[in-house]
Amino acid sequence: MKTIGVLTSGGDAPGMNAAVRAVVRTGVENDMKVYGIRAGYEGLMAGDVYEMNLRSVSNIIQSGGTILKSARSLEFMTDRGQQKAADVCRRIGMDGVIVIGGDGSFRGAKDLSAKGIPCIGIPGTIDNDIACSDETIGYDTAMNTIMQMVDRVRDTTESHSRCSVIEVMGRSAGYLALYAGIAVGATSILVPEFEYNFELDVIERMRRTIESGKQHFVILVAEGVGDAAEMARHIEEKTGVETRTTILGHVQRGGSPTVRDRVLASQMGNYATRLMRDTDRSCIVATKDGNIVDYDIEEALMMTKNIDIDTYRLAHEISI
Ligand code: F6P
Repeated sequence: MKTIGVLTSGGDAPGMNAAVRAVVRTGVENDMKVYGIRAGYEGLMAGDVYEMNLRSVSNIIQSGGTILKSARSLEFMTDRGQQKAADVCRRIGMDGVIVIGGDGSFRGAKDLSAKGIPCIGIPGTIDNDIACSDETIGYDTAMNTIMQMVDRVRDTTESHSRCSVIEVMGRSAGYLALYAGIAVGATSILVPEFEYNFELDVIERMRRTIESGKQHFVILVAEGVGDAAEMARHIEEKTGVETRTTILGHVQRGGSPTVRDRVLASQMGNYATRLMRDTDRSCIVATKDGNIVDYDIEEALMMTKNIDIDTYRLAHEISI
């Protein structure tokens, strides 16, 4: 009989609870003992764990956040912290740990596996920036939240014939900005992956659309690109269009997960737990062309993923 732990780490994402549910239910139904680890690697180092059963995960599939709580741990980045966590796993008798989180959490999983504790990662982040996976848990919900929020901002932007510069999350990834930007018909979309020329890509585009009769404008900016308020001032000065700034912030990280995220989380949680039952490999679960697959953890962390330039071009061609 195998004993495993499950934790959520880094920025939380809608659907993490559905993934925890799938891990616990799959584990218990396959005669495994499943420990919930509180507050990510912090809780693991402190031995803050509890045994979960079928009913520990009742009524959570629909809720955002994570019942296990999450954290970003500085101590776990040190060799001492990783050794401490591995010692706790051995003391409790945990044969492996399922880590639900993003890139930083997976680097932690790799370090823990190097200390002899097999780890399996499940991509959970709204940023969709896990290189080995086409999609991550929470991304679809966050895009829908952004779409709904921007639609609301657009109403008032239109009534006042204004421009709104709206900042969305994504310090180094522009997936949220690009795809939500297409869905809301943003006049310009700025993402960290692609260089931009503010005069050409924002001001000039606005001037062209003004000439064609457009009176309100939505400019969607990924967090990592620059200061949205400064951009708004620049737009107002150059175009004469009254401009406001909206920073959507952490509203994007909460809320009930969409169907897509609940299903993806259930599939990935089930797959990861079966994998842990059958092997001692450390790997990352991923989606590839609609299928659930897995990659060796070292390989997964060396992979790169590029945001699609054609989708970026498409956005610019039709949102004018
Ligand atoms: O990685 C998820 C994310 O929401 C990023 O989009 C964002 O830059 C960051 O986390 C914010 O982190 P925090 O909640 O620590 O401010």
